Formats: sequence, structure tokens, C-alpha cells
Amino acid sequence: MTRQTRADGSLRHLLTLEGLSRTELTMLLDRAQEYVRPLGVRPPVSRALAGITVANLFTEPSTRTRVSFELAAKRLGADVANLEMQLSSRTKGESMLDTVFTLESLHVDVFVIRDAEAGVPGAVAASVAPHVSVLSAGEGSVAHPTQGLLDALTIRQRKGRIAGLTVAIVGDIRHSRVARSAFHALATLDVAELRVVAPAALLPGADEFRGAARHTDLDAGLRGADVVMMLRIQRERMQDEAQLDAAEYFREFGLTSERLRLAKPDALVMHPQPMNRGVEIASDVADGPQSAIRDQVRNGVAVRMAVLATVVRP
Ligand code: CP
Repeated sequence: MTRQTRADGSLRHLLTLEGLSRTELTMLLDRAQEYVRPLGVRPPVSRALAGITVANLFTEPSTRTRVSFELAAKRLGADVANLEMQLSSRTKGESMLDTVFTLESLHVDVFVIRDAEAGVPGAVAASVAPHVSVLSAGEGSVAHPTQGLLDALTIRQRKGRIAGLTVAIVGDIRHSRVARSAFHALATLDVAELRVVAPAALLPGADEFRGAARHTDLDAGLRGADVVMMLRIQRERMQDEAQLDAAEYFREFGLTSERLRLAKPDALVMHPQPMNRGVEIASDVADGPQSAIRDQVRNGVAVRMAVLATVVRP
């Protein structure tokens, strides 16, 4: 695994939340909280990253992560280059590393990378010059660290704490980088009980999510939960399971208002989006009073500002 820290212990790259301490996670969440503003209030802007260039390299589709990294960098005064990878020389056979070295020659200081292949952000981080940082914006099914941070921040804001809560992560856990990063953050931040809830074919391997309770029955997985984190069915990462029937899945694992009543009365409903309404979650739940889904999106910019401000040296 590529080292994320410099020799002095400061965070240089963010590739995974696994291994970050409670103190490091809390510092990032505290820093992000300083950037949060209610909708309708102008977001904070600064020149903290003036002269720094951030490049967004996304080889998989994205709405939230790409736009919020761009806004985060701009609100901190950085220059931003967004590569349309399907229009870049990658389509002529140029490797990711040659693309990165080219951009490094153009004074890019921070690479934000989303890729379907496991290992790509780490390989880039191991190859760039010492002053350059790499931030994962989603690595295959492996990690989505800024999503894990924004999920933790959202829970902390809405529940006032993370320690002691019961969190159910429901859906396509096997293919979910979101679930893996949430697990690493929430376990380190002392949730009382973490449950992974999925059809048997979509549960993770036995060597993963250590300490989490496993459920193949949604009702049992929801009972008494403080937080219900729903996940998208990721057909693009599936093989045999891609034949999965959406209507049947919704009957067995879809979160409806009736099922939500099994969780605590004030349980928080989350979803990283994009959402398949009527497949993993009913619309009235996604848009209902217990939903924190829009807060998650808003917190994405704040978290990415905090990460950028942390990894870039003053
Ligand atoms: N949650 C998330 O990563 O959304 P995007 O794929 O739109 O970035």
C-alpha cells in the first residue's frame, strides 16, 4: 500500500481512510465543518491555495464528486484543470502515468483521480514528484475516502455524535467503495454496532468488514438502527449478479417508509447517490423528513475543501 503521509507524519495523499487515526479523522471533520454553510448563505472563499493547480482525472462517470472537487479547489483559490478523459490522449493509448507526468510538467500539484481499476490512485501516488499530492475520488470497489468523510460528517451533524450509534449499511456492499470507506471511518470513530445488510450474493468477503454484524434479512438489519445507509446496485461491477431483478430486489431490500419504522423513530436515512429510486429506496423515503441525502451532497464540498487544505503545504 502506498504511504499517505510525509516523513513528518502530515497527510500528503488521501487514498483510503483505512489506517487513519481517530485524531486524524476528527481533525478533517472539524476542518470540514468550518467550511459548511446553510443553503442560501454564500460559501466561504479564500486564497489559501492560490498558485496551486488541481487536475481532475475521472475515467468513470461522476456528478457529485467531480463538481464538488472543482468547487472546493476554486473556493480555496486554486486553478483547476478538468480532463475530459474520453477526449484526452488516453484514447490514443497514452498510459495514465504518462498523462500524469505530462500534467506534472504543466505544474499540476494535486491529482484527483477516479478509476474503475483497483490500484490506480496508489500507483500514481507512488510515481509523482515529492511536492505533488494524489486524492482518490473513487477507486474501483476499494475506496472512496472523501465520501466516507462526508458520510461521517453528515452523521455527526445530524446525530451530534458517531460514537455509540448503530449504523446499518444496506445493499450492494460487495461492490461498494462507499461502504468500505464508511466502514473504516465509522469503526475508527467508535460506532457501537455496524451492520452490513445484503442478499448473500452481495455481502462482502468474510475477511472484510471485520466486527460488523452480517444480515441477509433487511428487517433484522434495520431493527433499532440509528442510521440507515442505502447503497446503489452497481451493475457495472457485477458479473452473474447483473441479472438481478429490480422489482424483486425492491421487494426484498428496498427501503420503504413501512420498513423504516423498524429503525429508531429518529433514524437517519442516507444514500451516496446516484440513486435508483424504486430499486433500493422509495422516493417518499429519499425525500422524506428523515433523509440526510441532500446534506451529504452539501457536505461534499466542505470535506473536499478540508482535504485539499490539509494535503497542500502552506
Ligand atoms: N457519491 C458519488 O460518488 O457520486 P458521483 O458518482 O456522482 O460522484
